Amino acid sequence: MSVVIAVDGPAASGKGTLARRLARHYGFAHLDTGRLYRGVAWRVIQTGTDPQQEAACAAQAGALDAHTLDSPDLRTEAVGRMASQISAFPAVRQALLDYQHRFMAHPPGGARGAVLDGRDIGTVIAPGARAKLFVTASVEERARRRHKELLDQGSGAIYAAVLQDLRDRDARDSSRAAAPLVQAADAFLLDTTSMDADAAFAAALAFVTSRLGPAPADPARR
Ligand code: CDP
Repeated sequence: MSVVIAVDGPAASGKGTLARRLARHYGFAHLDTGRLYRGVAWRVIQTGTDPQQEAACAAQAGALDAHTLDSPDLRTEAVGRMASQISAFPAVRQALLDYQHRFMAHPPGGARGAVLDGRDIGTVIAPGARAKLFVTASVEERARRRHKELLDQGSGAIYAAVLQDLRDRDARDSSRAAAPLVQAADAFLLDTTSMDADAAFAAALAFVTSRLGPAPADPARR
């Protein structure tokens, strides 16, 4: 079994950036599991599937092609909202389980380990992960970051609407019965409200190093 680092947290907490940097530092493969749910949401929207129908949404999850998940179309707020809705279905989550387990067991590129980020990595997908981080920040700070990200992308987002959307998504992700967003008992809590990306990475790395030891010295593996 490869070495697994689990990174969980709410929307716009900075967990994606952190997971990517940890993966680069250790020479591990990285999987943003949110993209799997966004990919299913995109298919549900495009095919006109009824988002209330669990079996129909699970069929879309089963037909997902993981090679198509890099599209910027998946990053829109509408797709994120739909992802949050359909990810509450246990059958959708089940359909995406195999892919995540295979990624962990055999990280692409022959990497020695994998960093997975999402909502349920430390609790459901990889309960035995060597290091678990729960990354969070105040909802106002997360809304500020997401708003800036949207403005940078050229979309005319309104801060109050972004804030409300995050509040709704937090409530949905935390209150669902299937794999809710919750900190694993053995996860390190990283509150990035008053940290920039470098400070968050330094704090995360200090914790991960305490669990995994330092990254290999070979620069090719970093
Ligand atoms: O990037 P952002 O944090 O906005 O969201 P994301 O990580 O792309 O995930 C989109 C939605 O997928 C979330 O609101 C969750 O409801 C769902 N998701 C999940 O249920 N489980 C995961 N492991 C990852 C995402």
